[in-house]
Parts: sequence; structure tokens; C-alpha cells
Amino acid sequence: MEWIQKLKNIMGPDIISDENEVLENYASDHTEDFVYLPQVVAVPNNVNEVSVIVAFCNKNNIPVTPRGAGTGLSGGSLPIAGGVSLSLEKFNKILDIDEVNFQATVESGVINEAFQQAVKEKGLFYPPDPASKGSCFLGGNIAHSSGGPKALKYGTTKDYVLNLEVVLPNGKIIWTGADTLKNSTGYNLTQLMIGSEGTLGIVTKIVFKLLPLPKHDLLMLASFTSIEDACKAVPQIFINGISPSALELMEYNAVDYVIKHSNLSFELDTETAAFLLIEVDGNDKNQLFTDCEGINEVLEANNVQEVQFADTSDQKEKLWKIRRSIGEMVKLHSVYKEEDTVVKRANLPKLMKGVKEIGAEYGFESVCYGHAGDGNLHVNILKGEMSDTRWNGPHLEEAIRKIFRLCKKLGGTISGEHGIGLVQKKYMNEVLAPIHFELMKGIKKTFDPNGIMNPGKIWE
Ligand code: LAC
Ligand code: ZN
Repeated sequence: MEWIQKLKNIMGPDIISDENEVLENYASDHTEDFVYLPQVVAVPNNVNEVSVIVAFCNKNNIPVTPRGAGTGLSGGSLPIAGGVSLSLEKFNKILDIDEVNFQATVESGVINEAFQQAVKEKGLFYPPDPASKGSCFLGGNIAHSSGGPKALKYGTTKDYVLNLEVVLPNGKIIWTGADTLKNSTGYNLTQLMIGSEGTLGIVTKIVFKLLPLPKHDLLMLASFTSIEDACKAVPQIFINGISPSALELMEYNAVDYVIKHSNLSFELDTETAAFLLIEVDGNDKNQLFTDCEGINEVLEANNVQEVQFADTSDQKEKLWKIRRSIGEMVKLHSVYKEEDTVVKRANLPKLMKGVKEIGAEYGFESVCYGHAGDGNLHVNILKGEMSDTRWNGPHLEEAIRKIFRLCKKLGGTISGEHGIGLVQKKYMNEVLAPIHFELMKGIKKTFDPNGIMNPGKIWE
């Protein structure tokens, strides 16, 4: 195609490729089993190159799909309209860690955990910790305002971003705000970019705020013979005056699939229905022990089966590995649809019950786990033996709609931290009214009048 040759001529073959084996590497992310080949893969080295590519695409009406590490679960980086898959993989530098002001400036292709580690070495703390932290890019975290277990006490990505360098769809490079802890200067363009899933522009640099690193943490694993009891204990821990740094739920089958498909060993009691993985952190160790006693009281009052403390850092790491690998291990078991449900924390028992009832009615197995303290439950609907027609057709869509209607009824919404992307957009009308779409489409038009930036995402 003529435009491909032109773009190659402008940028050179190191940056632009249309070789099939390269295209294939950018055709999927972690969402179900989708494959969409881009026509071109662009791997720019710096912001100016991003700007030139984007301006070219804008002029020639070529779709651009920004791509981080491809760990997304809603299909945000799938190049469904062909065009250019623009990868930020070369944007992997931590530019500055400001130990005086507790801030850091990074490129958007830095891996989350590499950043956490780098600031930790300076006694600082960057809390957002998605399960994919070992591979996901900070830019992708911006795209969805990703969370993770520590979001419970510390908030999600959006709570740590001070300023963003963005390449707009017309190729202009801007900073959205200021590198300050406060900013009350006009509309908040920084927060508008966060969660916009690459539909408004391409984030190339991020200024984060940081916290002092908490000195200690304690981790406990509680098992329950009833999922309902496990869910009921969750709000009561807070009512008892304790704010855990993580409060995760894992259904029996979630842990079972991890054991079956990984080399992680864990003795599962078949009587167990669910686990709560609970962490407290802070600087005063005695206070943390007191907190654990308080948590224990709540667990006992809710018919806990067994409580185990992780005594060593190895034990802690292993429990966290089990928790973090659930999504991947379930995928090894079966193709699944991921629903990122979120409700008010105390409504979790009702959500859980409803999901299981809907599963029984529509004939699917679900694996439920996630950030119980945030009321954010990941519902993995397994394809198992389901026919392709049922899987892709109105049957399952109706079931998912029922789950989302229940979320709404329980004071929640359809995504807590995975975004809308491609796979959830048809359900947006369950929680948003025409006026919301009008406002969002107006914003989109202002940023991207030609609609080149990640087309077909969030919007119908
Ligand atoms: C998790 C991812 C799926 O919490 O968000 O494991
Ligand atoms: Zn999660």
C-alpha cells in the first residue's frame, strides 16, 4: 500500500515494519483469544518520532492503536481497524527520581515492577500494583487507571499522576498539567487522559508522586467453608477500625487452577469454599499485630475455617504469587471472558450469589476472585465445553448483561480497573445514559476530530 511505503520512507525500516512475523507479535493482548493484525508496526524511539508518525496518520486518516506491554484484559491495544500498532516498548527509561520532593519522571514503557523496585531502593513507594506488574507498562496503567491489591489503602494509578507528556492525535506534544502536588488551574486534562485508553492521545512521559516506603507488613490467609461468610467478613474489618493494605478474595477453584497449571504447591482442603488474603502495613510493628488481632476477631465471628500467618518473606511471596497468577492460570485452563465487576464493598455477598445464580441459569462455570476490600470482583466466565455460537452470541451476552445490571443495582459499575476497550463497550449503556455518551463523544471530537486514535474502543 502506498501509505505504508511512504511511512517507511519517512521513518526508516528500524521503526516501521510490515513483515508478517512482526505484525503477528502485535496482533493480540491478554484478552480472550482475539487476533487482529495491524497493517504496520511502529516502534518509535522518542517523542518526536511518535509525533511524526501520528501527524502522518492524522493527515492520511490511518488508524493508530497505541500499545504498551499487551497485558490488557479488555482488548484496548488490539488494532481492530488495521492501520498502525504503535508500541511504546522503547520508552523504558526512568528519567528522574526526585528524593527531595518525592516524585519521579518516567517514560511510559517502563515496567511497573521495575519502577516500584527502583524507588524502593531509595526508600520510596509507588503503590499501584496490578497482578501483571512484572510485565505491564506504566503507560498501560495510565490508560486504564489500573489498580491492584494495594489500591485498597493507597488508591489507583490516577491518585499518583501529577503530569503527563502526551502526543495529541494531530501530532502536537503537550504537558497536561504541572509537576506539583496541587493544581487548580483550569480543567484537569491530566485526569482526563487517565483511563481514556489511548483514545485521546499517546502518553510518552509521566510524572508520579511517591510515598515513603512503609517499614513493615504482615500477611494472613483465612479460609472459609462458605463464600458468603468470607464476603461478609470484608466490610466488618473496616467497621472494626482497621484499614488493611490489601484484602483479596480467592474462590476455591481459582486456587485449584493455579495449583493444577503452575509449579506452585499449596495444600487445598476440599471443604474450603474461599480464601481471604489480608495484608496490613505501616511503620509500627506492634500496631500491625494489634490490627491482625482485630481482623482475627472479625474472621472468627464469621465462621472462619483456618487462619495462617505468612512468617517469612518467602511464604509471603508464594501466597502473593498464587494470588497474582490466577488470571493467567485460569486462561491455561480455558478461554475465558473477564468481567471486572465492582460494587459497594458491603454488597459483595449479593454480587457473588447473583453471579453464581446467573452461571447456573446460563450454564457456565465462573472463577471469582479479586479485590474484595474495594468491592472489585473479577468474574472469569469459562468457555469450557460451550459452543462457539453460545460463547459469541446473544446467550452469553444476556448473561453478562444480567451480571452488570446486578452490579448497577448494588451501587456499582461494569469495570473497576480493566477498562472498557473492545469487549465491554456494548455493555456501557447498562450504566451510562445518552447524555454521558454525548459528553464523552464531544471530548473525543475535540481531541481527535478525524477519529484516528484507537478507533472502535470505548465507543460504539
Ligand atoms: C488481578 C487482575 C486480573 O487482579 O486484575 O489478578
Ligand atoms: Zn485485579
